[in-house]
Amino acid sequence: MQGDLERILFDEPTILRRLDEIAAQVSKDYSRKELTVIAVLNGSLVFMADLMRRIQLPLRLDCLSVASYHGKAQTSGEVIFKQVALPDVQDRHILILDDILDSGNTLAAIRERLETARPRSIKICVLLSKKKERAHKVDADYLGFEIGDEFVVGYGLDYDERYRNLPCIGVLRRELIESNRG
Ligand code: IMP
Ligand code: MG
Repeated sequence: MQGDLERILFDEPTILRRLDEIAAQVSKDYSRKELTVIAVLNGSLVFMADLMRRIQLPLRLDCLSVASYHGKAQTSGEVIFKQVALPDVQDRHILILDDILDSGNTLAAIRERLETARPRSIKICVLLSKKKERAHKVDADYLGFEIGDEFVVGYGLDYDERYRNLPCIGVLRRELIESNRG
């Protein structure tokens, strides 16, 4: 699997060190508040598991499942919510966790949808953010790493549902990404 990477961007110790820092900041910012983490599946699963165990606060966890990529390396622009009932967010302090901020479509749609259910506060935490012009203006309140506009896999991130179990994050070799991109 690792041989399919053109290069490694962040190895596991580097990711975990950064999570220690983010978790410390979250624990400080939400001290004496009850936090509700909403993880966007499936990409944030590994990130969520490692981050939440570092947060020194009582917290609740909910998951949200959306689809926009359909397993390929380009966004379709449309965000489909896969569950009938959304998590109960009313009067709660919500922290949305996602793997990566790319076009911003997904997080903009999720934020907008959750805001209609009147949370007390809402913030966004992403592991990665691509440095690029976004279709939707979304800012992460907590960010692991900023990366270039490249397709990355590992540590939860997939290409066509593969590579999620790689412990590191790397750039997928170009010839492995379907040629009909864009
Ligand atoms: P956005 O809506 O374009 O911001 O991106 C939404 C989703 O696309 C993310 O939550 C990821 O699941 C997926 N995605 C975007 N860029 C990448 C990438 O480089 N590798 C793997 N998945 C990605
Ligand atoms: Mg994905």
